[in-house]
Amino acid sequence: MPTRKRVQGFKGSRVQGLVQRPRRVLFLGDVCSEAGRKAVRHALPQLQEKTEPDFIIVNVENAAGGYGITPRLAEEILKSGVDCMTTGDHAFDRKEAWDCFVSQPKLLRPLNFPDPVPGKGQAVFEKNGFCIGVINLMGRAFMKPLDCPFQRVSQVVEQLRRKTPVVIVDFHAEATAEKQAMGWYLDGRVSAVLGTHTHVQTADERISPQGTAYISDVGMCGAFDSILGMSKDDSLRRILEMVPVRLHPATRDLRINAVLLEIDESSGRALSIERLNSVAEEEPTEPDEAGSTAGR
Ligand SMILES: [Fe+2]
Ligand SMILES: [Fe+2]
Repeated sequence: MPTRKRVQGFKGSRVQGLVQRPRRVLFLGDVCSEAGRKAVRHALPQLQEKTEPDFIIVNVENAAGGYGITPRLAEEILKSGVDCMTTGDHAFDRKEAWDCFVSQPKLLRPLNFPDPVPGKGQAVFEKNGFCIGVINLMGRAFMKPLDCPFQRVSQVVEQLRRKTPVVIVDFHAEATAEKQAMGWYLDGRVSAVLGTHTHVQTADERISPQGTAYISDVGMCGAFDSILGMSKDDSLRRILEMVPVRLHPATRDLRINAVLLEIDESSGRALSIERLNSVAEEEPTEPDEAGSTAGR
């Protein structure tokens, strides 16, 4: 059974005496390995039935054995009803996916990679009359020294808002302070700033007075009997013995961490943000691919 907690903000705009039905955006945290993909396959249909989202965004940076994404897996995830896939520091772990960042319009990489890097960090989508902008960004604290995410997002946010007031930002970052800073930096300029990367869902969701939904981290879709989705034994050995042990994906206790946003379409203001945590599958999953020695 999914557990849910909802935070409400602004009440919504009135058009000809009627309250418009808010648009609903479902955002799933980092999908980690075959366990995460299986969790999505099993739990997403139920979640869709319960929440009736207009648009679904999923972070897929760990979908391939915990490290990156492949063209085949991108197709598989899209077939489950996903509308946009975001990534992060593992975006380019799989060389075979590099072309996919150019050819697949629904796959984003962090905007603040240097310009020659393939792919794009923002896009506007239209689905059933709903126009939504998505920006994928990466933090720099304790991460790769990419271009400044604050400067880069400032350059594109107004560009996107000329097309639609509804803009969602996936801020893939390690440090909570940097995530909170981005939340306040974009306050009132976007509909939501949603943190990803740490794989642990935080309980700090809120709607700012300016109408921006925020959570420090949405969490993970994957095996929760693990350390951040990877084998406990491998991870412990790496930490205790300080050796570069290869991490393998964990396989048990499959869950989905997500948030559901309700957004006033005419203003772009977030009306509510709700944390979702669904148990997807109790049976063990076979590990798909070997991991690597890199971080999450
Ligand atoms: Fe991740
Ligand atoms: Fe990450």
